[in-house]
Amino acid sequence: MSVMVIGGAGYIGAHVVRLLQQAGEEVVVVDDLSTSVAGRVGDSPLVVLDVATPEASRALEREMRERDVDAVIHFAARKQVGESVARPLWYYEQNVGGMGNVLAAMQAAGVSRMIFSSSAAVYGIPDVDLVEEDIPKNPINPYGRTKLIGEWMLEDCARAWDLRFVALRYFNVAGSGWDDLGDPAVMNLIPMVLERLARGEAPRVFGDDYPTPDGTCIRDYVHVRDLAEAHVAALEALRAGPTPHAVYNVGTGTGASVAEVIATIGEVTGLEVTPVVEARRPGDPPRLVASPARIADDLGFRSTTGLREIVATAWSAWQAGPRRVER
Ligand SMILES: NC(=O)c1ccc[n+]([C@@H]2O[C@H](COP(=O)([O-])OP(=O)(O)OC[C@H]3O[C@@H](n4cnc5c(N)ncnc54)[C@H](O)[C@@H]3O)[C@@H](O)[C@H]2O)c1
Repeated sequence: MSVMVIGGAGYIGAHVVRLLQQAGEEVVVVDDLSTSVAGRVGDSPLVVLDVATPEASRALEREMRERDVDAVIHFAARKQVGESVARPLWYYEQNVGGMGNVLAAMQAAGVSRMIFSSSAAVYGIPDVDLVEEDIPKNPINPYGRTKLIGEWMLEDCARAWDLRFVALRYFNVAGSGWDDLGDPAVMNLIPMVLERLARGEAPRVFGDDYPTPDGTCIRDYVHVRDLAEAHVAALEALRAGPTPHAVYNVGTGTGASVAEVIATIGEVTGLEVTPVVEARRPGDPPRLVASPARIADDLGFRSTTGLREIVATAWSAWQAGPRRVER
């Protein structure tokens, strides 16, 4: 019996692969290595495949049968909001088309458990203090829409055949569980700040006139290692039987503002971090913080790692990688 981790060489996927390996699970990774490198998956077999190509479904089905796969964890997706606005059809092809191929292969091979990487982007700009799973979903860009469509595909397949799934809606994922598994992309706040510092430039803040206590946007930062553990909890739950719900937020329930995160980076690194304030970016909600209650109640999962440790582990992985910051 083995677990297929699609997108398992990526930032979050590689953390889940390592936790599964440490738990003694057989793991097979599928990844096209478009945003990652093979070295991140350790000793597990790696199938290099773009899951959005027409031949992917048959290839995945064959791998699932040969490796006796009992569950799929599906991370592989394009995830850049701005790029999704510029290239919507490619996002639908990759994220929705890829999902269709994975589900078709699962149905053909008789694999009935799936954990799906969804996103807080499905909520759009919610006007609530804590986002609960059942509030209306109004994604405001193609990326968020592809994630919501992915959830709908899972719901429809679960009605049509014996698929059981958990969709995890991640909030702001950050930090690193191991120094060799840091976030390789510079798209989220902490890597963006570290990159600016590495170039000797001041961090940027996009808007300080939001209706929040310090005027900067508030987000819910969840440590990537905690998030990886949420996948392990979901896998255990799916193997034990139907889960009470199919969709869960993964966050902490506590928000931190952009200004607070930058100040924490200054404390942890000892670097000068006085930011420059620039114009707001379109589509940034002032506040996006998860209600973490449902996943705690149903799956016993809680994310407890605080902002300081998130920043410290991100910094440590950054320093260990190719992009050191000279102090
Ligand atoms: N990082 C975040 O803050 C965040 C937040 C919410 C949701 N997510 C979702 O979590 C998932 C993983 O994100 P990540 O941050 O680890 O991203 P990542 O880019 O590091 O990982 C994605 C992995 O999937 C692979 N991949 C992409 N398209 C593929 C394809 N068509 N076929 C095969 N492999 C493919 C990439 O090579 C990469 O290894 C994504 O679905 C993303 O939308 C991430």
